[in-house]
This record gives sequence, structure tokens and C-alpha cells, in this order.
Amino acid sequence: MNPLLPQPRLALPQLSNYAAEYDWLFFAMSVFSVVFVTAIFIAILYFAIKYRAGSPADRTDRIRFRSRVILESSWSLIPFVLLLVFFVWAGKMYVAWSMPPKGALEIAVVGKQWMWKFQHPGGQREINTLHVPLGQPVKLVMTSQDVIHSLFVPALRIKMDAIPGRYTNLWFTAKETGKYHLHCAEYCGTDHSVMGGWLIVMTPADYQTWLAQAGTDLSLAGAGAALFRKYGCSGCHGANSTVHAPSLGGLFGTTVRTEDGREVLADEGYIRDCITVPGKNRVAGYPPIMPNFSGKISEGDLIKLIAYIRSLPPGARP
Ligand code: CUA
Repeated sequence: MNPLLPQPRLALPQLSNYAAEYDWLFFAMSVFSVVFVTAIFIAILYFAIKYRAGSPADRTDRIRFRSRVILESSWSLIPFVLLLVFFVWAGKMYVAWSMPPKGALEIAVVGKQWMWKFQHPGGQREINTLHVPLGQPVKLVMTSQDVIHSLFVPALRIKMDAIPGRYTNLWFTAKETGKYHLHCAEYCGTDHSVMGGWLIVMTPADYQTWLAQAGTDLSLAGAGAALFRKYGCSGCHGANSTVHAPSLGGLFGTTVRTEDGREVLADEGYIRDCITVPGKNRVAGYPPIMPNFSGKISEGDLIKLIAYIRSLPPGARP
């Protein structure tokens, strides 16, 4: 972002770290489109009048081959290069947008017909309202319990689909406190239009106060530890198990070699697949005995289990 340029600003507040640059991109593309559309329509009008039926205009072919080549390549190459500028610009933003900074505050998001469920790392839950601290990178780890939804906060200028069976990420740093609309931006059924709510940006101190009063017995990882026993995971992956199952301590973020020789990053999506599609990434050297939990564990519980597995330090036997 060039700080010397004046900021074009839509009527919406520029809430996120992307908003100002996004507005610039949008503004530049609009100007680009208007200029080209206007020029093309003026040319159409001019030639339509000039060569109308019965006009005395010269209709003999006066353009020589060489200038025709230059003409034809220029009207392909100039727009191509100009559009490439937008491609690189938007691509650069997309890269920044898809790489959440380390240490971002992670909030789990589950979309379902027709509400948004949010869960903070401490276990605090809320529906259709999301509280976040000011000035701190926030990473949303999103999924859906039924159909595809899409979380859109216009003031942030960002939007991301929540897709069943997958985790998608969205990260931002909010720059102003306040209350901002959030929406579902993917048609998802009867009550799609009312599937929305509020993003509330608070000062870090207010956010801590809110977390404390929102109250919870267990953190996400703590709730996950209880589920780890409830679903019987500890029977094979636990410390006292005699079953030959992979150790989960320190697993998160490492690279796992699968039975068919691939290398897979152990992220949220990987652990989710291990639980719901056990055959997909079976770890090399282990028998195919992991039960399939597809449809047996809710999205909310999967998020807690993953938070728990993620919290296990290297060498830990849960
Ligand atoms: Cu959910 Cu539209």
C-alpha cells in the first residue's frame, strides 16, 4: 500500500488491514472498465454514423498489411498487459490474505442452517455475534455442518466459504472498535437472508473482560480431552494402550509420511480427515484399524478434539 496516495473510500468503514488496498483495487478496476467501455462505445457510435447506409464515406481497403499487424497486436497486447497489472496486484493481496501470521488468535467457526457458531480458544461460545480484540491478528478456522455457507463482513472487505468436510481460513486485523454487520454470502436455503449477525471489535482490555464474563468451564482443548476419552480415542492412542496406533504428542504442524508414500502436513484438515476418512492418509507402518467416525462426531466436537490433539506436546501420551 502506498501511503502517499489519497485513499478512495467506500461508504463503509475500512475496518481491516486489507480494506484500504482493496478499495484502491476496486476503484482502479472501476476506472479501467469505465474508460475502456466509454472509448469502445464512442468508437462504435462514430463508425456506425460514419459508415451508415448511403453515407459517402470511403469504403476502399486502405490499411496495408504491416500496419494491420501492428493494429491487431496492439489491441490484444495493451489490454493484456493492463489486466496483468491487476492480476499481479490482486495476486499479491491474495497471498497476504491466505497466510495468517503465526500467533494469530484462532477462533473456530461453524456455519449451519441458519446460524453462525463461534468458539474462542478459551471455550467461550457465541452465536451470530463475534467478539474480537482490536489490533490483533484474528484467524478464523471455518467449516460447515451442512451445506456451503460464506462468511462475509463488508467492513473487513473479506469473505470466505465455510465448506462441509473441510477447514478454510480467514484472517484479519481489525483497526477500529465498533459493531459491524456480518452476513452469509452463499445461498444456503430458506433462511439464508437472515443468516447474519454482528462483528464486535473491542479494545484488548474489553475483550479480556468479555471473555471472563462470557464464562466457560473448559477451554477448547480441555473439552477435547474429555471427548478424547468419551469417543474411545484414548483406548488406542492413550498411554496405557497396547494397540499399535500413532502417537499424537507433538503431531500438529509436522509432516507425516503416509502408507502410499506421500508427505502430508498435519494441520487441522489432516487430523479431521484421520478421524472421518481414516483410509485417506494412513500413516506408514500402521495397520488400517482406525474406526471411521464420519457422521458420528459433530463439527463442534471435531474442533475440540483437534484443539486437544494440537495442545499435546512432543512425546506426550494422552
Ligand atoms: Cu448460510 Cu447463506
